[in-house]
Amino acid sequence: MTEIAARTFTTLWGELGTVGRDPHTGGYHRSVWSDADLELREWFDHQAQQRGLDLHVDGNGNQYAWWGDPADGPAVLTGSHLDSVPDGGAYDGPLGVVAAFAAIDAMREQGVRPARPVVVAAFADEEGARFGVPCTGSRLLTGSLSPSDALALRDRDGRQLAEVLTRRGRDPQALGARPDLLRRIGCFVELHVEQGRGLVDLDAAVGVASMIWPHGRWRFDFRGRADHAGTTRMSDRADPMLTYAMTVLAANKQARATDARATFGRVSATPGATNAVPSAVTGWLDARAGQDAELTALVETITRQAAERAERDGTSLEVTAESLTPSVHLDAALSGRLVEMLGDSGGVVPVLPTAAGHDAGVLSAAGVPTGMLFVRNPTGVSHSPAEHAELDDCLAGVEALVRVLTHLAHP
Ligand code: GLV
Ligand code: MN
Ligand code: MN
Repeated sequence: MTEIAARTFTTLWGELGTVGRDPHTGGYHRSVWSDADLELREWFDHQAQQRGLDLHVDGNGNQYAWWGDPADGPAVLTGSHLDSVPDGGAYDGPLGVVAAFAAIDAMREQGVRPARPVVVAAFADEEGARFGVPCTGSRLLTGSLSPSDALALRDRDGRQLAEVLTRRGRDPQALGARPDLLRRIGCFVELHVEQGRGLVDLDAAVGVASMIWPHGRWRFDFRGRADHAGTTRMSDRADPMLTYAMTVLAANKQARATDARATFGRVSATPGATNAVPSAVTGWLDARAGQDAELTALVETITRQAAERAERDGTSLEVTAESLTPSVHLDAALSGRLVEMLGDSGGVVPVLPTAAGHDAGVLSAAGVPTGMLFVRNPTGVSHSPAEHAELDDCLAGVEALVRVLTHLAHP
């Protein structure tokens, strides 16, 4: 590892440390178009300027820092995202962006003169924490999300994306697919902290991703009848919280039985009084499975069991799919090259699937040859303030990225 890469990494990591950080939990709140997000965007611009990279922002809020002339052939894209889930970890996203700037500094110090442009991206709203749909930046870029659907999305305060963009001085009319930009991208390599224990178990600092599990989000709206918590007999109630609670248990049981994942991580009760049976409960299901058909079957089973329970509880249920991302097999040829590039010093480079979603999956599905590098996560914990990666492993990730970008920029 060059000294400069380590120095850049440590400096930039330190700069990001306080942005959007909750001092009590140590977690990050960096939802799209929040104050923290704007600060991160400025930080990205500043990093690009400091390095003399050409800054470009597409109409979807994705930022790009170009090293080299777009006319010099299909670019090698790297980077990741800077937004977070509520009270998220420091590494999910920012690790890929900071590693990319550190890699560029190292390549320059080594005298690398890329034959093709190298581009660092920070994709907007990867987590979908605010508007409910993940990867809106990359989905808009590729055309898999339409501007009209995106603009109609609402945050928890009921504000539409269109209004939020306008308030932040952005043009809602600028949203939309950018085939012209995509055509300039030859390949994408996203470096990301691993969000499980795959690399720990394999005793490796860096690995290559093979595929991304299919995953999606479904909103379960349970409706019942509001009533007094004291005077209403238990047998006289139509309590949507009961139907919801049973659905959570059913989802957990079903996912365990099929080696899939099902999580209700967000719930809201209306009107939300301690001394009243709620009139409505909305819960959001995040479901994932190893194969598309398994995911379909999982969600169908949970929905059927929830509907059966609603019948017994005298409540009603409506299920709305808010997003669905089919399985993605990352580019086999590119992934094979990544393994070769990283393995030529003798070590074995693990290749592993992930159940986490990424902009890499969106670009891959749009036909951009895409690969991913994972950096070891010693506990596997992610989407939590406790998410962590050791500095030495992060630097091993930077070193891997230097090697990969140097190779790919000299086809
Ligand atoms: C993103 O990290 C996701 O998988 O939800
Ligand atoms: Mn994430
Ligand atoms: Mn991420």
